[in-house]
Amino acid sequence: MIQEATLSKLSLTPDMLWPIAQYKKEGLYFYLEATQDVLPNGRVNVENYGEMIMLGSYSYLGLIGHPKINEAAKAAIDKYGTGTHGVRLLAGSLVLHNELEERIARFKQTDAAITFSSGYVTNLATISGLLRKGDTVISDKLNHASIVDGCMLAMANHVRFRHNDMEHLERRLQEARRSGPQSRILVVADAVFSMDGDIINLPEVHRLCREYDAYLMIDEAHSIGVLGETGHGIEEYFGMPADAIDIKMGTLSKTIPSAGGYVAGNNELITFLKHEARAFIFSAAIPPSSAAAAKAAFDVIEEEPWRVKKVQENYRHFAGRLKDAGFDLLYSQTAIVPVICGDVEPAAMLARFCRDQGIFVQAVVAPVVPANLSRLRACVLAAHTTEDLDYCANVMIEGGQKLGILS
Ligand SMILES: Cc1ncc(COP(=O)(O)O)c(C=O)c1O
Repeated sequence: MIQEATLSKLSLTPDMLWPIAQYKKEGLYFYLEATQDVLPNGRVNVENYGEMIMLGSYSYLGLIGHPKINEAAKAAIDKYGTGTHGVRLLAGSLVLHNELEERIARFKQTDAAITFSSGYVTNLATISGLLRKGDTVISDKLNHASIVDGCMLAMANHVRFRHNDMEHLERRLQEARRSGPQSRILVVADAVFSMDGDIINLPEVHRLCREYDAYLMIDEAHSIGVLGETGHGIEEYFGMPADAIDIKMGTLSKTIPSAGGYVAGNNELITFLKHEARAFIFSAAIPPSSAAAAKAAFDVIEEEPWRVKKVQENYRHFAGRLKDAGFDLLYSQTAIVPVICGDVEPAAMLARFCRDQGIFVQAVVAPVVPANLSRLRACVLAAHTTEDLDYCANVMIEGGQKLGILS
């Protein structure tokens, strides 16, 4: 029996990596802040701070609050109510879910698609559902946490290759082929890396996967609506055929203003996941309003191509201003603009400087990114005006100079 004295010494919560209380005391804590209203032009009303320019949201095409999408969500509530009271495989499937999956498949030019209740769960369920003991998953070192967790949950061997390093990926493929010539190999990567904003070298990854007989899974959480002339994603960006990627994963919570995640692929893959992926089988279906909003959003992306052009123009303009001023933006080529500050302290101070001037942007520090690459992570939206982006760039440059981040 455990002694009472021992029990009193056990803490339920381990020590935190971040000194939260200290951050709060110094006014450097700017997380979990609640938006009161979403305003036009990529602005928001934030509790305790008032109106701010939103530079931290993933609403890349500014589709939050789009009338057609809102209408679709409201109509779905009127028709189906607010929940699905069940899992898809049993009583939770609606015609709307099938329509959404058909819409996604059409958008990504695949046979079919499957949806899950979140993007995070999609990666977990797909990677762990597909792989068996003896298989190998090879994952880019900067992949999103949900991919990492999916790899850890799978019973397969889990190895990583250096970020976007194709020679290292090839070595990993050779090792995997040597150790189990008959086993299956899955290579998995983000299309756009969520902290750095750079793009996976898809042509080379695809070539290597074909050479070593490996399956390829790409997470398009940050590339749908952003990459390619019409926002259809990474194959369009590189001018590659629609079947270049075997497992096309994406979220419904970023460019698509809803919640959920999807995998698009061939009929065999989707049928398999619908009967084997545990989070599909054992977790309730996406609510009707979310499914309807997501479906309408794919239509809007195709009907309003100016949004894709605008977000691309906006990030080129904003990143150009910061680069010209001397900021290190790593290899970002997309709407995610990492503004490198060095240590944790200058990053937190620059975030505070921006916050005090009405800009909603957050510091991202270790352990999420390496400690010496602490940064502000700015996300540029189609909804931003050039004036607001110039204002944000000016404030960051002024703050960077004051804090010694820029020389
Ligand atoms: C690359 C990537 N994949 C998956 C996810 C998870 O998506 P969701 O927030 O829809 O669960 C995220 C979320 O930030 C992401 O950045």
